[in-house]
Amino acid sequence: MSIFNIFKKSTNDEKADDSPKTEEQPQANVDLQDAGGQEWVYSDEVRQHFFEPQNFASKAPEGYDGLGLVGSPACGDMMKVWIKVDKETEKITDLKWQTFGCASAIASTSALSVMATENGGMKIDDALKITPTDIINRLSGLPDRKIHCSVLGDKALEAAINDYFKKTNQENRIKDKSIRVIDKKLNITEKDIEQAVKDGAKTLAEVQAKTKVGTGDPSCLPEVEELVRYYIEKHDSEK
Ligand code: FES
Repeated sequence: MSIFNIFKKSTNDEKADDSPKTEEQPQANVDLQDAGGQEWVYSDEVRQHFFEPQNFASKAPEGYDGLGLVGSPACGDMMKVWIKVDKETEKITDLKWQTFGCASAIASTSALSVMATENGGMKIDDALKITPTDIINRLSGLPDRKIHCSVLGDKALEAAINDYFKKTNQENRIKDKSIRVIDKKLNITEKDIEQAVKDGAKTLAEVQAKTKVGTGDPSCLPEVEELVRYYIEKHDSEK
């Protein structure tokens, strides 16, 4: 099924639109540039998952054990994830999703759905350990400015698993992934970054001044930058 007929057109120039597509559209071999002329290079894996998304649900499926719905304050996009869980083995036997999101969100969630269900399905405790970095690695990378798009599916899956825990009276197992460690050298968590934003930091440099994040391991800085943007918009929208 083509996804192009399903997603609504949104404001970003990169997003899918719902206009009828012909054989010549879109051109898979053309990389995109933003308004500043910076190239966004998409890997073959991203293109493949975008053009042939796996486990996409054209309508809400029935008989599912958990539903996760999240929105991205960074861009206003939405993601829904449904999971089916085998109660005996605690494996995710099926995962379906829908989004009003960009190409990177579509590709990320498609890849995530394969990761969670391949080889008979991942155990829910292991699925909760999937990070946006794991998804990005599976896609052989995303442009730096699109890293937050991989967070959307990850957070929706976490919400769906927590919904499953609620529905099966296992509230004690509900996990909050915001305690995950972002800077492994200094043991700085996503929650620490959110707290720095709550305490008034407005830029990556200000968050670094408060937390020292990335000073030992600069490889985490692109993700930190997206998280700073995410939490600034989240807390601004809650005021
Ligand atoms: S720009 Fe919104 S999810 Fe990618």
